[in-house]
Amino acid sequence: MLFQAAVIVLLLLIAALLLVQLRRGRQHDQAIADLPGNIEAGTRRLFAQIEAYLSLRDRLGLRQGLPYSHNWSAAADFLKLIVEHALVAKPATIVECSSGLTTLMLARCCEMNGRGEVFSLENGAEYAAGTRAEIARYGLEDRATVIDAPLTSRTLAGQEYRWYALDDLPDRSIDMLVIDGPPGFIQRHSRYPALPLLFDRLADGGVVYLDDAARPDERELVAMWLAQFPAFEHEYVGTERGCSILRLRRNRTRAA
Ligand SMILES: C[S@@+](CC[C@H](N)C(=O)[O-])C[C@H]1O[C@@H](n2cnc3c(N)ncnc32)[C@H](O)[C@@H]1O
Repeated sequence: MLFQAAVIVLLLLIAALLLVQLRRGRQHDQAIADLPGNIEAGTRRLFAQIEAYLSLRDRLGLRQGLPYSHNWSAAADFLKLIVEHALVAKPATIVECSSGLTTLMLARCCEMNGRGEVFSLENGAEYAAGTRAEIARYGLEDRATVIDAPLTSRTLAGQEYRWYALDDLPDRSIDMLVIDGPPGFIQRHSRYPALPLLFDRLADGGVVYLDDAARPDERELVAMWLAQFPAFEHEYVGTERGCSILRLRRNRTRAA
C-alpha cells in the first residue's frame, strides 16, 4: 500500500515537472515567434529617435556634433517638446535639474530668441565639465551656466532625500523648469524635491517638464505634487520615456 502511494506521488511529481518543462518550451517558442516583430518595433522606434535628433540638430544649427550619450541623454522626443516650448514661449529664465544635451539645446534656443538664460544644476563634476566644454565650443557661455550643485540631504514631509544644493542658483523668477535628474536609481521619488524646493520661485504661467514620467516612481511623485500644489494643470505626453508637463496658474487655487 505504502509502495503504491509512493509510486503515485512519484508519478505526479514527474507529470508536474513535464508540465513545467512543456510550459517553458511554449514560452520559449513564443519568445522566438515574437522576435521579428519586436526587432521591427525596436528598429522603428530607434529610427524615429534618430530622425528627431537630426531634425533638432538642423533646426538649431548645432552642426559641430552633439554631446549625445545613449545611456544618459534625454530622448529626442523629449528634447523636441522642450525646444518647441522654449522657442515659442521665449522664457527669460530656464532652470534645469541635470545638465547635458538639454542644456546645449535650451541655450541655443535662448540665443535664437535673442533673450533668456539657462541655469543647470549639476551634481557630477565630470558631467559639469563636459557640458561647460560643449557650451563653450558653441560660444553659448552667455546663455548657459552649469552650476556645481552636489546632492545634499533634505528632509521633506518626514522623508529624507538627496537633492541639489541651491546655494549658487541665482534668486530669479523661473519661467521654465526642466527636470531630468537626479537619476531614479539613487533613491525613491528621486525628483520629488524639485517642486517643494522651487515652487515659490516659479513664475505664474511657468511650465515644468519632467522626463521619464512613464516610470511608476515618477507617476507617484507627480500625484504627490498635484495633491500638494493644486495650482498646477497637468498634461501627460506619451513620449518614449513619458513626459509630464505642469503649468502653474497661481489664481487657480484662489478660484477653486
Ligand atoms: C539623467 S542624465 C541627464 C541628461 C541630460 N539632461 C541630457 O539631456 O543630456 C545624467 C545625470 O545623471 C547624473 N548621474 C549619473 N550617474 C550618477 C550617479 N551614480 N549618482 C548620481 N548622479 C549620477 C549626472 O551627474 C547627470 O546629472
